[in-house]
Amino acid sequence: MENNRSSWGSNLGFLLAAIGSAVGLGNIWGFPYKMGKSGGFTFLLVYLLLAVFVGMIIMVSELAIGRKTKLSPIDAYKKVSAKFAWIGWMATIAPFLIMSFYSVLGGYCLQYIALNMTKLSFGNGAVAMSGSEIFGAMLTTPLGCVVFTALFIFLCMAIVQGGVSSGIEKFNKIGMPALFVMLLIIIVRSLTLPNAVEGLKFMFVPGYAVKAQFIEKAPNLITVLGTAGGQMFFSLSLAMGAILTYGSYLSKEENLVRNSVIIVISDTLIAIMAGIAVIPAAVANGIANGTPVGQIKLSGPNLLFVTLQDVFSNMGSLGPLFGVIFYALVLIAAISSAISLMEAIAAHWIDMDIQKGENDTRKQRVLTVSLLILFEAVIVAWDGLGSNFSPASLLGISDPPTFLDCFLDFMDCWSEGIAMPLGAMLMALMIGWEKSPELVLDEVAHGDPSEGFKKFYRICIKFVVPVVMAFVLAGQMIDFFGGPQIVWYIVSVVALVVFFCLSFFQPHAEK
Ligand code: PFF
Repeated sequence: MENNRSSWGSNLGFLLAAIGSAVGLGNIWGFPYKMGKSGGFTFLLVYLLLAVFVGMIIMVSELAIGRKTKLSPIDAYKKVSAKFAWIGWMATIAPFLIMSFYSVLGGYCLQYIALNMTKLSFGNGAVAMSGSEIFGAMLTTPLGCVVFTALFIFLCMAIVQGGVSSGIEKFNKIGMPALFVMLLIIIVRSLTLPNAVEGLKFMFVPGYAVKAQFIEKAPNLITVLGTAGGQMFFSLSLAMGAILTYGSYLSKEENLVRNSVIIVISDTLIAIMAGIAVIPAAVANGIANGTPVGQIKLSGPNLLFVTLQDVFSNMGSLGPLFGVIFYALVLIAAISSAISLMEAIAAHWIDMDIQKGENDTRKQRVLTVSLLILFEAVIVAWDGLGSNFSPASLLGISDPPTFLDCFLDFMDCWSEGIAMPLGAMLMALMIGWEKSPELVLDEVAHGDPSEGFKKFYRICIKFVVPVVMAFVLAGQMIDFFGGPQIVWYIVSVVALVVFFCLSFFQPHAEK
């Protein structure tokens, strides 16, 4: 079976694809805002420490399990551990849920490219609405959102149907350098706007967000840990099957540790660069329009589709051109991430066919997966971030917790909020306690014999990762469900203890 499975054309191709998976919407609207809100460098420091002690460890583990088994998540976990085989299902359902809203957001990017092209062709006055009017009008025109969501899914489908090396790898080889150049153009434009420095202060100066009244008080360290951990996992595409699947196409000679370091550094650098591109522009434009600094919208979909559209509309005749470049770069980032999610889902069925001796089913399987994604994405597109209906309105709840605010949050809650931290915690317990760290280290040794990393890995996978994941899980549940924080800390610790016992105590024969 291994012979018929796809593989990357080169290590560089793999790296660009993995960086493509990591660099996505999370980098552009999640990282800069969370960094500013959570104390600038404090957040960056916590983020980097978590990336080294947890992110890197999970990334190496996923790549190693993928490459060792040469299987997709469901089959890979089944092969590695009978007890924890279900992590594989979690790592397949979670990317499926993420795709429900990721493709809607990708659709919005397409609509904004079209909008700015219209303005470029017919003058800024062609659509003389403000950013928030445009966004509101788009959200309350569900048919348009559905059509562009379908177009986004179709684009991703065409790439994934092309195969691992001639579809995914090829797209990223062109897309990633293009994204980088576009980002540089936007950074130069952004930093040359008057008052741009105030935006840099938001991101980098500790305490600025409180001083400028973006937030009331600085978050405590545990909150920063939860926020940075959740952001790091989503941004690095961890515990979602994507990195494991990409690893399963990687050749034995490649150095998994070095590759992981390159992916983590590139993703973090692009996140910081994205922040320098968007935050100063948004703050400068807000100040120019007389908006009090603390009231400028710097988070979530509003940042990309309201605040930044205003920036481009106010930039004069060249504004729409920068708008096209910017939304095209966000689109590339979204596609390169979405195709990794799609591949992680479809790979299971493609693998099953190869096992049965049917080698030519990729196109059909990817088509089926795309149709299923379209089906769930229609709901998210139609609810228009809660403008048209929401889980809360359907249930008749008037003051809902975040996860019922709109279908995007609902899907995000189960995937990014629960499956991701829980999946990573379970994976670490499985490797560290049920099996042995050597499961991963033997595989790592194929490309990297370094002893230092092995010691570091053993400690992190057994102790650091499970405990940090319990904090991240609690942080996510606090965000999504609200209520007394202590309850969610207790739930997370109980989960950690129960799963630890499950992995540690086992019938003697099984060891
Ligand atoms: N890393 C992507 C982002 O930052 O937007 C999102 C993502 C892609 C998460 C792939 C998970 C995944 F498997």
